[in-house]
Amino acid sequence: MAAPGASLTIAAMNTSIPSSTTSSDEGATLLPRIAVLATGGTIAGAAADATNTSGYQAGVVGVEQLLAVVPALSAVARVAPEQIASIDSKDMALPLWTTLAQRINALLADDDIDGVVVTHGTDTLEETAYLLHLTIKSDKPVVLTAAMRPASALSADGPLNLLNAVTVAAHVASRGQGVLVAFNNRIHSARDVVKTSTYAVDAFHSPEIGALGWVQDGRVEFQRSVVRPHTLATEFVIGAKWPHVEIVVSYAGVSRIAVDALVAAGVRGIVVAGTGNGSIHASVQQALADAASQGVAVVRASRVGSGHVMRNGAAADDALGFVSAGSLNPYKARVLLMLALAAGAAGPMVLQKIFDTY
Ligand code: SIN
Repeated sequence: MAAPGASLTIAAMNTSIPSSTTSSDEGATLLPRIAVLATGGTIAGAAADATNTSGYQAGVVGVEQLLAVVPALSAVARVAPEQIASIDSKDMALPLWTTLAQRINALLADDDIDGVVVTHGTDTLEETAYLLHLTIKSDKPVVLTAAMRPASALSADGPLNLLNAVTVAAHVASRGQGVLVAFNNRIHSARDVVKTSTYAVDAFHSPEIGALGWVQDGRVEFQRSVVRPHTLATEFVIGAKWPHVEIVVSYAGVSRIAVDALVAAGVRGIVVAGTGNGSIHASVQQALADAASQGVAVVRASRVGSGHVMRNGAAADDALGFVSAGSLNPYKARVLLMLALAAGAAGPMVLQKIFDTY
């Protein structure tokens, strides 16, 4: 990678946008080449007027337009834009995950590409990021970013988030850190990051553990690194086939109807968003035990939003055939369970080892 080492200072705020993969600018040829893959989201959203930050359409602004409003990018990287999709990320679908991961793997296998930035909606960003963290086969930087305000808004947060994401992707220190999320000046690990606000621009946090580092005014600093295996060190490969895994929730007065319907529909796995330490209402727990006895993989996560779910050992998990999700929230636990089942993992103890590892 041709990235400068300690920091990248944005020198030329008024230079014109380098929107193509070729550049005649002599200085720019020394800069890292970063592919920017756009998928839609609020970062590409537009409303009828600039004061509207809630009633807009996501995913309508193209990647070239997103880049064009950030001329400072030309001092950071040679960007290679691609429009992969134009969706509201609430509609993220499994075939698009396959397409995205395969495209990133292909790009990163190219010696001319130094890193990838993915622009995404905030709503399912944490799921896509964790999926890529487990299936990208490269140690080159992959950085997701997004925005809470549409591109048309007063004080839109997308342009600076995009500049910061490219800055992180272009930086040597980002290599080998797994998939990263650059948002509101913080750099998070894809494993830990979650969306924590429906409206605030500071919408992403890594509960309990905190961000990996920060990016500001062209400077990138990591304060810790990721411990659990990712990218090149996982057993997971992206494929076109996805095992059917769903999520159910435990709450006061819940019935077993949803679990029984899922089992009847032939699911391979169920993640339960339990209360507290992944505890489950007695009616749902019995339904899940029945499901596990029929070979359905059952993973206990928590709906709480931070902390971890301890394995209950002989008292419950062993007897019922359940797996604990540890510190993964239900949505990330579902991603890992799908990948594990797709890789042929079977049985609660094998799955527990996978959850304890990743
Ligand atoms: C989306 O997730 O695509 C819409 C919401 C957002 O990006 O903030």
